[in-house]
Amino acid sequence: MNLCENINAIALVKKKISDKNLRYYVMTFGCQQNEADSEKIRGLCEEMGYIGADKPDDASLIIINTCAIRHHAEEKALSYVGTLKHLKEENPALIIGIGGCMSAEPSTVKKIKTSFRYVSFTFEPAKIHMLPTLVYQTLNTLHQREYLTIDDECPPIREDLPTVRLSGHRAWVSIMYGCNNFCSYCIVPYVRGRERSRASSEVLRECRELIEQGYKEITLLGQNVNSYRSDMDFADLLDAIASIDGEFWLRFMTSHPKDVPDKLIEVMARHRDKICPAFHLPLQSGSDRILRLMNRTYDRARYLSIVDKLRHAIPDIAITTDIIVAFPSETEEDFQGTLDVVERVGYDKVFPFIYSPREGTRAAKMPMDIPDATKADRMARLIAKINEGALACNDEYLDKTVRVLVDSDSREGKGHYLARTNTGKLVRIFTDGESPVGQFLNVKIQKTTPFDMFGAVMKEG
Ligand code: 5AD
Ligand code: SF4
Repeated sequence: MNLCENINAIALVKKKISDKNLRYYVMTFGCQQNEADSEKIRGLCEEMGYIGADKPDDASLIIINTCAIRHHAEEKALSYVGTLKHLKEENPALIIGIGGCMSAEPSTVKKIKTSFRYVSFTFEPAKIHMLPTLVYQTLNTLHQREYLTIDDECPPIREDLPTVRLSGHRAWVSIMYGCNNFCSYCIVPYVRGRERSRASSEVLRECRELIEQGYKEITLLGQNVNSYRSDMDFADLLDAIASIDGEFWLRFMTSHPKDVPDKLIEVMARHRDKICPAFHLPLQSGSDRILRLMNRTYDRARYLSIVDKLRHAIPDIAITTDIIVAFPSETEEDFQGTLDVVERVGYDKVFPFIYSPREGTRAAKMPMDIPDATKADRMARLIAKINEGALACNDEYLDKTVRVLVDSDSREGKGHYLARTNTGKLVRIFTDGESPVGQFLNVKIQKTTPFDMFGAVMKEG
């Protein structure tokens, strides 16, 4: 059955399930953009009258928000879908829907349709607003095993979707969707479509409301936030948000090294009380030849010059990156180029990935010519280099007093909490008394590892 948005589905579902106390569960895989999308999915579930469940076993509606960035991410999501089969057998009225990037891949949708027949529908990231229509139609056709698809073209950005945030102090705010860059390995432009920016007035309204509600940290999200364009560019938007009164931290991700203008660096330096001195600048490779094959449109010299500018303007800035190992045809010399950049930059954190071919991308047509043993060996050497750099960065904090935002309880037990510095460092703290979750504290760093730090809480005042 093909659907288009022609019914007031939220009200219809609400009527249909009223007084039944039905629950929903959302499982999220992948990046922060998916986390933000799941907040909208939760918002719609609650508008329809479903109540949040703590586990899928208690739910009548399960939505899985999937990631397609690497083969492994897809496998993980599908194996999770597999674990839900028995729930559907026990409760034939259970509705299982799959959203996220995998739902925008025709071959994956075909596989879901044929191999996971207990899944009722899929919906692409740009079509989250159709969820109530899909749920309503499923409630009406539950016993016909009819698979639903959506007819709408990629719609304009929807500003009217409700949001249920899991955190009361950290908030994601999407400022743009999609990507125009077509890096040759990447599936994102195919599954999330072309770049679309939200109106600056809408972004500013949302940020003001969050700060009024007491949120302490806002992270602006987009596949490539520097390409944000409305009546203002990204630097102006950041400037405007950082000018809102209140004590809060402002972060953003992700940036493409092709466009990091001086103006952006100047805005970050000027608002350094609010804009976190942290920059995620994906390198992908330290070899110019591989960067060209990846269609990244910068070379290592340009990349390193941006790092220098950032460090000059904001000396304590934390620089983090993504790196792909074993891209097709990567030689030992190319790989040495990557190790060399990692050593020169001394990253605070690196997310390393082994290249994974994605159907439909340009790189997927390049020969897979690197043996698995070489891939594993390069990954191990890269991780060793990353850890050296990360420990050196963290050691800079020893005996210093830094401000942290307390994020959550830690599994270590009562009084133990996880917090982060404005540079994004994970700090483990202990304090008795009232929970400090959601508050800023000053802590003195007493011990560091490449991955975290231990801090003693300082008395305020
Ligand atoms: N294989 C491996 N890593 C990938 N990434 C994106 N596509 C692929 C792929 N096909 C990595 C990039 C990107 C991060 C989000 O995921 O490093 O920056
Ligand atoms: Fe993918 Fe490149 Fe776009 Fe990032 S910039 S989402 S790596 S295509």
